[in-house]
Amino acid sequence: MTELDQALKTLQQLKEVTSFEALAIKSTTIDDQGNDMDIIANQVQQLLAEGCQHQSTGWAAHMTTSISNESLIGQILSSLHNGNLLSPELYPVLNALKNQTLDWLCDVFEQNHGHFTAGASYGNLEALWQAKQRYPNRDTVYLAQTAHYSIYKACQILGLTCQPIATDNEDKVNLMQLSAACQVKQPLAIIATAGTTSTGIFDPISDCIKLANQIDTWCHIDAAWGGHLKLLPERQDLFEKPGFQANSICFDPHKAWGQPKPCSVLLYQQPVNLMLSIEADYLQQQPNNRLPGSQGGESFLPLWFTLVSSGVETLRQSSRFTLEQAQFFSEKLNELTNWPTFTSPSGIVCFETNKNLDKLLQQGILSTAKRNNKEVYRAVFANKQINAKALIEKLQPYL
Ligand SMILES: Cc1ncc(COP(=O)(O)O)c(C=O)c1O
Repeated sequence: MTELDQALKTLQQLKEVTSFEALAIKSTTIDDQGNDMDIIANQVQQLLAEGCQHQSTGWAAHMTTSISNESLIGQILSSLHNGNLLSPELYPVLNALKNQTLDWLCDVFEQNHGHFTAGASYGNLEALWQAKQRYPNRDTVYLAQTAHYSIYKACQILGLTCQPIATDNEDKVNLMQLSAACQVKQPLAIIATAGTTSTGIFDPISDCIKLANQIDTWCHIDAAWGGHLKLLPERQDLFEKPGFQANSICFDPHKAWGQPKPCSVLLYQQPVNLMLSIEADYLQQQPNNRLPGSQGGESFLPLWFTLVSSGVETLRQSSRFTLEQAQFFSEKLNELTNWPTFTSPSGIVCFETNKNLDKLLQQGILSTAKRNNKEVYRAVFANKQINAKALIEKLQPYL
């Protein structure tokens, strides 16, 4: 019996347990014998019910999405293959599909090299690690105060100083202050965010790259969330102008493109420096210079399968759909209330109200964030299941 047959048999057994509701809530145990299928089924049902929450039409708390059937097939393929690209010569097919997906991403983001990672936290860390190799005597990183906390983690790991720069009244990095800080101390890197986590705002990407070029500094773009807009010809104004390429950029297809985690990419303009000259006697080539070690198809086969089966246009359409829903939600709020509303270009809508929406926060329908240092409610339009009307209905009792 193959692994696939065995997995399907187990799934079938789980499905055959029909009396879910009647079951007492019994937890599985980890012991020498394993558990009865009924008990496992009960817990699986709870697990799946929990996962269904963020797939509903009115759930907008975070960037968590449902995944498509195509991605699911890619994920299963990856598990069935389970090779390790530490030794790519052993897996020429897997390696070719990785390169095909990566080349396409390089074209989209106008970069030349890169690799998949387990998330933008790793991308931000590795980009700074690379920057440090290029400028070993520098240790300061400038970033807007709205940048993601993973950059603070990365700085702590690398022994760097993270210096947040104030934002302007649109929540973007204040360029005058950034420029002034660069005059005072030449940084190791400037980090600009393409779609902030809290409010979805884009820093002025081209200006940040231009400034970094002028003072010979690394510029990294954290496009973990907003990178999905790079596929839309009508939103190119948010990104770098031609001729202004960042040194590195990271993007999470496991956010707005609805891919299963982990699916993230770190792209570079130049080939990365050789940082280690360690040999591994069990490999036919030197270990690579990247943060990830063991890696199979899990970080790219779901995306690869989506691209080759549904085409790039599916991703464009789902971005346009979520942006339209965000726009509609914000227009409806403006029509029905006098609550100040802020719509970002990347599909996050924030609003202020003196109504207490704690119940909606607890249900995961909305979340909170800070905009210009003020607490606001936040709706994230990430999931292609999302429906602005359904969200407005949840708000109806408060309108
Ligand atoms: C702008 C930004 N950068 C980095 C991250 C970290 O990404 P990951 O969770 O994939 O490590 C996030 C996550 O929300 C983010 O929004």
